[in-house]
Amino acid sequence: MYEQVSHSLLNQILDELKPEISKRNLLRFYTRLGANFYAIHSLFTHLYGGRDDFLQQMVKLVEVLAMRYIERSDELEMLDIERESNHNWFLDQKWVGMALYAEGFAGDLKGVRNKCGYLSELGINMLHIMPMLKCPAGASDGGYAISDFRDIDERYGDLNDLSELSANLRKRDMLLTLDVVVNHTSDQHDWALRAKQGEQKYQDYYYCFPDRDIPDMFEETLPEVFPETSPGNFIWDEQSQRWFMSVFNAYQWDLNYSNPAVFIEMIDIILFWANRGADVIRLDAVAFLWKKIGTTSQNEREAHLILQLMKDCCQVTAPGVVFIAEAIVTPTEIIKYFGEDAVIAKECEIAYNATFMALLWDSVATKNTKLLTQGIKNLPNKLNGATWLNYIRCHDDIGLGFDDRDIVASGYQPRSHRKFLLDYFTGSYDDSIARGVPFGRNLKTGDGRISGSLASLVGLESALQINDPKMVDDAIKMIILLHSMILSFGGIALLYYGDEIGTLNDDSYLQDENKASDTRWIHRPRIDWERAEQRHHHGTVEHRIFSALQKLIGVRKTIPAFADFNNRELVEVDNEHLFAFIRNHPEHQKEEVLVVANFDASPQHLNLSVLRRRGQLPSMQLRDLVSGVSPAIFKDDLVIPPYSFYWLSDQHTSAIM
Ligand code: GLC
Repeated sequence: MYEQVSHSLLNQILDELKPEISKRNLLRFYTRLGANFYAIHSLFTHLYGGRDDFLQQMVKLVEVLAMRYIERSDELEMLDIERESNHNWFLDQKWVGMALYAEGFAGDLKGVRNKCGYLSELGINMLHIMPMLKCPAGASDGGYAISDFRDIDERYGDLNDLSELSANLRKRDMLLTLDVVVNHTSDQHDWALRAKQGEQKYQDYYYCFPDRDIPDMFEETLPEVFPETSPGNFIWDEQSQRWFMSVFNAYQWDLNYSNPAVFIEMIDIILFWANRGADVIRLDAVAFLWKKIGTTSQNEREAHLILQLMKDCCQVTAPGVVFIAEAIVTPTEIIKYFGEDAVIAKECEIAYNATFMALLWDSVATKNTKLLTQGIKNLPNKLNGATWLNYIRCHDDIGLGFDDRDIVASGYQPRSHRKFLLDYFTGSYDDSIARGVPFGRNLKTGDGRISGSLASLVGLESALQINDPKMVDDAIKMIILLHSMILSFGGIALLYYGDEIGTLNDDSYLQDENKASDTRWIHRPRIDWERAEQRHHHGTVEHRIFSALQKLIGVRKTIPAFADFNNRELVEVDNEHLFAFIRNHPEHQKEEVLVVANFDASPQHLNLSVLRRRGQLPSMQLRDLVSGVSPAIFKDDLVIPPYSFYWLSDQHTSAIM
């Protein structure tokens, strides 16, 4: 948009740029800067407009964008151009990701490179390498307490190893996802060390106070993220005689985004990783970016403005890069991270679908889909040009963040239902087959979350222990059923390393005093490659899971209706064990797919004539796209076996596929 104030400011900034920038011919950069400048200027004014050094800060910001642009390789710039003209590229059904720790998966980055073949074999083409930057030993929060934002921990390799890995991925048409931990640093980061030494410049990077007055006011409304291991939200630093805000662990200090210098540092870091080949950047803990007394300091409007500004800046320098919002918040809040006011995504293009994840786990425990259907019915529509990251497990715990109204509408009482789920998954009932462990129990509020690997949570661990083939069967079916959901729902499916071979809980973390109090380590495994070899041997657990997922992923990629164009219609069925939806193809009505899943231990039936009457099902000759066969139908009742699913399409259309 043309606006005179912005335009004259832009001219002024261009006049002040340092010679190493102004002397170069950066045509593309200036075109993009011009296109995005009105938005950048407006957002920067909202956030920092009152400051005397506003102009200097804006010049600094533009210089950072230009310097990182100059540094961007020709190859990455070609990708930018390609993706600018195909800007919905990440909505395609072809993308299937896996999140992994380099160390746990293959020792280090070189090891990961050597295992790219394994990932391709499964059909993975988006790799999320969990944080691998320098963190203090023993106070790392699994890589999320960073002491140097530009250097890889030598245990995992170095920048060259990452370059080689990213080049290798690009050759395979695989995307690289990296984290940028935007909300906090380790208390051992250089900025923190200098703040401790009393340098004002760096104390201004954090929320830091000489006495308890402000911290106490904050504490009145700030919840605790890690109540067991890190109660409270401020930590006293002896050296500087200051209280520092530390919402997560005491050694993770929150950055103060009301200081533009912090924003500029962070965009510089984001672009640094974009230039090292990241196609996708996972912005960690974005709900927490803005702190305000009297609030929970989560999901504040300014947090959204910061993200919009990050996106606009990134679009100037590296427009091919997309953002994932890691915000594990309620459905009504999560939707805002796509960029509420815009027609197309203007904040993060991708967001974790923690709602769907938690709802799926509810169905695993209850064997019905009352809350799942209710929750998805109320999941607000997202913008076009934005997509979900659908997952079952990740490196974090499972939080039971359902909307209380949905719990009530499903016929439960919120507090007791959450307690039931917690008890069920942590094996508190004698007959519970789940082997999870509690995480983040808050004795004050009664809240709690769940840790545990997928296989252990669905009962594979207990089944193998008592050597019960039927239980093993059921657990494997459940693993496949859950994956069938994240692969068909709409969005990028993100698998978690180890789940593809049924990796069980690993309690070796209990031997490490730095990990023992954080149960999330139980599901951050070291892959046993001998076990993984079993995937080639028919009948083994590893083969059954791996080959089924391989098949599902392969089939997903051939189904155009599985691309995410907000083309999902929930089907409300009168059988509480079934979850069903239709994925319609935006252009070819004939290619729509009916997805139906049975979470119960007995076969269930779905009355097709009801769907037809509602116009939700064309006169299909149904055929399952995964197995290629027509399912059992008795007098218009489709029968779905226990813990199973169908991806159903018109027989004639699917025959062509
Ligand atoms: C994110 C990470 C989690 C970490 C937290 C604090 O939620 O996923 O593992 O503990 O941020 O950095």
